[in-house]
Amino acid sequence: MINTPPTKNLALDLVRVTEAAALAAGRHMGRGDKIQADQAAVDAMRLMLNSIEMDGIIVIGEGEKDKAPMLFNGERLGTGDAPIVDIAVDPIDGTRPLAHGLPNSIASVALAPRGTMFNPGVFYYMEKIATGPLAKDMVDINAPVADNLIKVAKAKGEKVEDLTVVVLDRPRHEKLIGEIRKAGARIKLIPDGDIAGAIMSAMPETNIDLLMGIGGTPEGVIAAAAMRCLGGTIMGKLHLHRQDEMNQAKELGLDLRKPILMDDLISSEDVFFAATGITTGDLLDGVSYFPNGAKTDSLVMRGLTGTIRRITATHRLNKLSEISTIPY
Ligand code: FBP
Repeated sequence: MINTPPTKNLALDLVRVTEAAALAAGRHMGRGDKIQADQAAVDAMRLMLNSIEMDGIIVIGEGEKDKAPMLFNGERLGTGDAPIVDIAVDPIDGTRPLAHGLPNSIASVALAPRGTMFNPGVFYYMEKIATGPLAKDMVDINAPVADNLIKVAKAKGEKVEDLTVVVLDRPRHEKLIGEIRKAGARIKLIPDGDIAGAIMSAMPETNIDLLMGIGGTPEGVIAAAAMRCLGGTIMGKLHLHRQDEMNQAKELGLDLRKPILMDDLISSEDVFFAATGITTGDLLDGVSYFPNGAKTDSLVMRGLTGTIRRITATHRLNKLSEISTIPY
């Protein structure tokens, strides 16, 4: 029997990072300014990540798409002490819904040992399929939609008609939506936020069975960290839409049909993940503010143990403002 002493659960440090980002970004709900909201979340995240005992390097930074304020790829964060880790951040997944006061925006961050995270490079989008532990070995990104649904239903002891598939509401998904409908499954269209979409497919209480469709590659890596902790799976393949991506793929001799498996997205089980709701959604409650305080709702996960914690925190903003530079 292997009997190792307990080691530090960095996810419990990470939740302070996502809470701070959510508290700072939540102030911008409905203000119509994505850049300001992103800046607030990024500043809070950077400050909190720097307080963690780790030698971290950002592999998945966020914001390039919109030229939004970023935690830069290659940026080093933490105290500089062991452990040596890769960091993936999405300070706001769902900047548009946050700016418009709509549901489902979250702050999220993941850590994994150095060199174990997929680096998306220029490849912005990937086609994804995610599901929970019961059906994790049944899905194949290259299989017809109906085949995947039939296999997942069978693994869960359900009918295809009982399944609910989360799909990003985008014109590019017209064909996919048609195929899911034809197979008989139900669909939940989400305006944004496929990290939460993937996570929900592995949490039975959400009544979501799968995530399907094309979304951000960085979001795919972050979701993979959570799926490892939840015992589910996410796999994908690159979806090219720009000329520079096509040139790069040609140069690298990439086979675009080759599935990117969860092991490719994050090759270690030793991962940590945290997410905090900014606006209330299907997965998490958003930040609520009250006189001198605020409440947050977070998920905290560790891959090695598979422990999933849900943490509701009450923050005393009047006290925090005396010691913190974050403008809560
Ligand atoms: P941001 O809030 O970071 O812009 O991402 C929101 C999101 O919906 C992601 O969850 C998803 O992966 C991606 O955008 C999809 O991209 P697009 O909006 O271009 O379809």
